[in-house]
This record gives sequence, structure tokens and C-alpha cells, in this order.
Amino acid sequence: MSDPTTSGSQPAAGAASAPGAAGGDTVPVTPADLTVAEKAGLTSGADAWHTKAIDRLGVPAIMVTDGPHGLRKEAGSGPGLGPSVPATCFPPAVALGASFDPVLAERVGEAIGTEAAIEDVAVVLGPGINIKRSPLCGRNFEYFSEDPLLSGLMGAGLVRGIQSRGVGACVKHFAANNQETDRMRVSVDVDARTLREIYLRGFEIAVREGRPWTLMCSYNRIEGVYSAQNRWLLTEVLREEWGFDGLVVSDWGAVADRVASIAAGLDLEMPATGGYTDGQVVRAVAAGDLAEADLDTAAGRVLELVRRAGQRPPAPAQLNVDAHHDLAREVAGRCVVLLQNTDELLPLATDARLAVIGAFAQQPRYQGAGSSRIDPTRLEDALTEIRALGTGEVTYAPGFTLDGAGDVTALRAEAVRVAAGAEVAVLFLGLPPEAESEGFDREHLDLPAEQVALLAEVLAATENVVLVLSHGGVVHVPQAEQVPAIVDASLLGQAGGGATADVLFGRVNPSARLSETVPLRLADTPAFGNFPGENGQVRYGEGQLVGYRWYDARTMPVAFPFGHGLSYTTFSYGQASVVTADDGGWQVRVPVTNTGGRLGREVVQVYVSLSGSAVSRPPRELKGFASVEIPPGQTAEVEVAVPRSALAVWDVRTGSWWVEGGQYLVQVGASSRDLRTSATVELPGDGLQAPLTRESSLAEVLADRHAAPLVAQAVQQLADQVPAAAGLLQDEEMMTLMSSFPVGRLPGYGGLPITEQLVDDLLSAANAARGTPEVG
Ligand code: BGC
Repeated sequence: MSDPTTSGSQPAAGAASAPGAAGGDTVPVTPADLTVAEKAGLTSGADAWHTKAIDRLGVPAIMVTDGPHGLRKEAGSGPGLGPSVPATCFPPAVALGASFDPVLAERVGEAIGTEAAIEDVAVVLGPGINIKRSPLCGRNFEYFSEDPLLSGLMGAGLVRGIQSRGVGACVKHFAANNQETDRMRVSVDVDARTLREIYLRGFEIAVREGRPWTLMCSYNRIEGVYSAQNRWLLTEVLREEWGFDGLVVSDWGAVADRVASIAAGLDLEMPATGGYTDGQVVRAVAAGDLAEADLDTAAGRVLELVRRAGQRPPAPAQLNVDAHHDLAREVAGRCVVLLQNTDELLPLATDARLAVIGAFAQQPRYQGAGSSRIDPTRLEDALTEIRALGTGEVTYAPGFTLDGAGDVTALRAEAVRVAAGAEVAVLFLGLPPEAESEGFDREHLDLPAEQVALLAEVLAATENVVLVLSHGGVVHVPQAEQVPAIVDASLLGQAGGGATADVLFGRVNPSARLSETVPLRLADTPAFGNFPGENGQVRYGEGQLVGYRWYDARTMPVAFPFGHGLSYTTFSYGQASVVTADDGGWQVRVPVTNTGGRLGREVVQVYVSLSGSAVSRPPRELKGFASVEIPPGQTAEVEVAVPRSALAVWDVRTGSWWVEGGQYLVQVGASSRDLRTSATVELPGDGLQAPLTRESSLAEVLADRHAAPLVAQAVQQLADQVPAAAGLLQDEEMMTLMSSFPVGRLPGYGGLPITEQLVDDLLSAANAARGTPEVG
């Protein structure tokens, strides 16, 4: 152990080079070059956004800044939500997730990475990929989806893009951080299978496919253990199982016990604690309460991050504001979901006489509040952009104010008058900015009452109504069925105004899909009654039935299903077919034809079911998707890969992934409730890895394809040898009654001629045939 009060070994020649500088032929600094005090210092921030430099060794400080849908490089060094350098505000995850296109996410990531590199930022703190467990989570706008596959693949895309510019990404918040209420303490009670299949799977995908440089642990606890000091989570699952080789940083202020955190696998505590926790670490090492090797590991990972950052290729001298703004507009157009379009009211004719109504048309809501808030380089509003693209008369009336000020009745009357005088009324409604934010959860899904009243009056005054919705979390529109056209513009970033106009006039053919179900009522939602918990605890009582998995299992009607979204063209699906891929998974193939008159993009979704499964399963689960552009009249042969690993369930008995053999139903369609074609496919299973034991039930033994014939053979032999017992042994009703008996309790039971030796021999033979280990 090195002396915490003195310098360690000699400074290494040519230590980690500064970010932005070429890597060069340097001898890397290693933890062995550092004193304990230096290692303790290096593994905690210098301020809110920097690591500590070690000048004597030439180790520079590096900067991390918030994202994830742009760069939030704070002007100051303290924590807080002060002004930041202007950056392109791309569509937040609520919108980007709806594109169902990881390649698009990658392009956004590349642009963010470039902006970070220009600003000498080493790591962008995003993407956030937590599951939208309840629509009430105040921070849902920062997350992609209620589905882990979509969340993980979109997250991986963003990571790849950011890192392609030599800047690190940071996948957050690991794990089970699905609410804002009591977020720094709440303990999540979740069963092991749900944790693995729903709440960890997206992270696993992002880690395996994105290979992020860093990952941020969450504030909350899981089963009583803070993520920041959860060795199972940060070391066993993340590193040993998934092969994560980057650095784990704490969420800001998530560390309750720094010494325990380092031992668990946390590498960097953020933000600075003024040296307070550094002292704890130094004392713990001196007292033998913390293995210096654990501190070395953490310090080594910080040094490695500094080294990686130092190899960043040269960045452009300055930001190309126009090019990135244009990209933001293109991407935003890909994130608009056309929910409803009766009688093809949309797209609008360029010369249509329009009433534009609703304050959001002029004061756009384009991102959420909290640590992800970007100071945009520009900001488009829909009203200006509609006026720029349209040639007809456009009259505007706010109808309401965002802060509720003003004469509501007069504002509404004016708006209704304007709507009645136009060919089409385009109504911009949504959640006001204060309705949702990082830091608190919502209590309802409703639009403000004055907006609901305005919509009702406009619908009564005119037939041609287009509703454009701005919101981060799900919003309930009571009159949705009566509104001819609904455009879900969620939060589209700084160019959302133009993108909305592009969609309204048909310059962009909408192609995005709901990445979250829109329920009819809050009371229908999966976590209702179990959200946000109480007394520091929340129970994930719905288990795996999150999002569409829940509504489908209950065959519940919803306002708009997961995966739903319309286009200005139409698509027809041919017959799906499935071929086995090299990894034992599938290539799902389906011809999709653009049967309309416009170029369009279809999001082909593959859902998989297994009826008669040995474990409980949702009716169907998304296992793959592809976003494909198809010219009018043409057919695309769409291929969607479903890796075998995606078909595995978490086997709680063995603590491992397990692919169940059986006949699977593969359904392919345009939404979770618009399934157009299907195929069945026989999948060979992994076989049960858990050995059969005396504790295995008779039913489990009989269900095993290796054991069942051996049992049948033994029963026949016994019946031949002991004719008196034959009736009992071959009585099906009796066997059904005894199916829950552990086989170890059968010997001698009720005078049956079954011996312990027979049971053990059968188990041995069956385990040998299955390739599972012999048990004593
Ligand atoms: C948020 C993180 C964010 C960090 C730094 C935390 O409160 O949960 O997402 O990166 O602050 O601003």
C-alpha cells in the first residue's frame, strides 16, 4: 500500500495527453504512479463538470456535460441550470424514439459529438434509456420508449454516433430509475425476471451494441441497495456478464457511501465534494476498510477515459449552425406521428385558407425542463413556418395563454371566430411547460381545461380541424375520436416548427410511430396503484406487463396503440417468412408494397409469441423492426433480424438466459395492433439447464422430452413386475392429481412400488440425456 501522504513513484514520462492533442508516443500514466490521495482525488470531480488534473504527471482535467439531445455546456462550473453555450437542440428522446430508426439516432449522435468536440467536451451525458413504466414519470420526455428493445437500439445508435467523433457517450440512468418522486432514495421492488427482461435489457443492448465509454448509475435503490453501491449491478452484471469496459460515473449526488461505492465498482463520483469524500477514501484504505486494488481499478478507468479523450481527432474550427439546424429539421420531420387522418384532410393544400390557433404555434414547446435543457442556436415556430410555406391566407389566434393569464373567454371566442372563417383550422394544443419536468412526476394525463374547452368549441364551429399536440409525456385528448386529423408533434427540438409545417403541407410524409401506448384513462395504465410508491418503496407489481404488454394481456382498448402511426401513402404486406440465421435466431422476411401515390417510409414491426410456454409471457413482444423508404408502386423485400438472444427469457432457477423450444408465432405489421401477416416457426430450445432433482415436480419431469420416455418405460416395467400396482400407476387421473409432487416424495407413497433407487436412476439417466450435471 502506498503512503497516502507522500507522492508515489516517479512521474511517468509523457503522461496522458490533453484532450484535443494527438495521442502521440506517450507512456501512459497508471494508478501505480499515483499516491492514494491522488487516486482518491482523481475518482471524484473537481467541480460540477470536470475531473481533477494531476499536474505533476501531466494528467489533464476533462470535461463532461449534459445532453442528451444536444450539448448543454454550462457557462459556469457549479451545479445548476444556468445558461449554456448555444448548441443545436435536436428532438428529445420522446420524439427520436418515435422514428424507430437507430441509424437516424446515429446521425444525431454524430452531430452532437461534433459540437462536443468543438467545445472540447470529453463526454456527453446521454442517452437516457430508462423504460417509461408509467406515463406519469415527469422525465419520460428524456427516454425513448416503454419497450426495452427499441430503447436499447436507439440508445446504441446515439452512442455510436457521438463516439464516432472521438467523444464519449454516457448511457444513463442505470438502473430502474423510472420515476422522479423520491428519486434519490426510493427502493424499487422488482422480480428478477422483470428486472432482466424489461429494465436491464435496454442497457444490455446499448452496452453490447454501442460500446459506450461511460455509463451513469442511477440515484435510486433496487431491493434496498443504492445503484451507486450495488456490486452485483455495477460489476457482476455490467462488466462480467455484458463485457462493459468503460467507466461508471455516479449520477450527480448519487453517492451515499463513497467507500462502499468504489468497492462495488463505481469509478467516478460527480460532482465535486470539496475533498470531503476523498478524505474518507484515503482513511478507508489506510484502515484496510477499502482494498487499494479497488481504488486502483477506479483510478485506472479514469486515466483510461482521459487517455481516450486525448485521442480525439481534430474538430472543425466552428459549428456549422445552418447545417446542424437543417439536420435538426430533417430529423424532427422523421419524428412526427400522424395519429389520425380522416378523409385525408392532411396534407393541406399550399393555398388553403388556414386558421392557426393555439399559443404553442407561436411559443413552441420543443424540449423538456431540467438538466437536459439546451440553449438552442435558433428556434423555429410553426406559425412563421406555415406562413413561409403556405400561399393562402393564414390567420392566427392564440385561444389561450401558456401561463393561464389573460381573459380566457375572450381569447377562446376570438379563436372560434377565426376557425369558423377558415377552410381548415389547425389547432396547436399541449402540455404547458410547468406540467412536466425532471424532478417531479405528473398527477394526471389531462390537457388543461381551457384547451379542452377550446377544442370542443372549435369542433362545433368547423368540420376541418387538424390538432397538433406538443407534449413530453402522454396526453389524453377527450374528444380525440371527433377530431379529423391529429398530428403528434411531442417535443421536436429547435426546428420542430418547420418540421411540423413540412408535415402539414406534405413536404415530409410522416413515418414515425408511437413508442409509448396512449391509454384511454390513467386508471388503465400498468403501474396504476403502484406508482410512485410510498415510504421510500415502490413495487413493480405489474411485472413484465409494461406498456403494450399490459394492454394486450388484458385485451384493453387504448386511445392509440404502441407502434401506431399513419402515412400519406399506404402499404400492403405480402406473406412473411422466417429463415434460421447463423446464430440460431431468425431472419424475418416480408415483401412490403407502397400502394399509394407518394414516396413513403414504413416501420415494419416484428412481434413474437409463444403459446403454451412454460413461463408466463405477454401475448406478444417486439423482437425486431425496420424503417424502410419505399417509392410509390414499388415493393421492398424487408428483412428484420431477430437474434437468438432476443428470444431468451430469464430463467430464475438457474439465473441465466434460456431459449425455450417450441412453435413460435411471428407476427409482422404496422403497429402492435395492426398485424398484417404471420408465420409459425419451430425453434429448438436450449434445454433446461437446471438439472432435474428429487425436488423437481412430476409434471416438470414429464414435461422434459428426455425424461418423459424414460419415465414411461419405467412405469411400464413396474406395472409388469407389480401387476397389483399397474392400475394406480397407469391411472391418468391419479397422475394428474400427483403432478405437483416433488419426485423425491414418491418412493413408498400410498404403497406405490417406487423406490428411491429407481427415482435417482431415472434422474441420472434423464440428466445425462439432457447434458445437465449429475446431482447427488
Ligand atoms: C440528472 C442527470 C444529469 C446530471 C447532471 C442529474 O440530476 O439525473 O441525468 O446528467 O444531473 O446534470
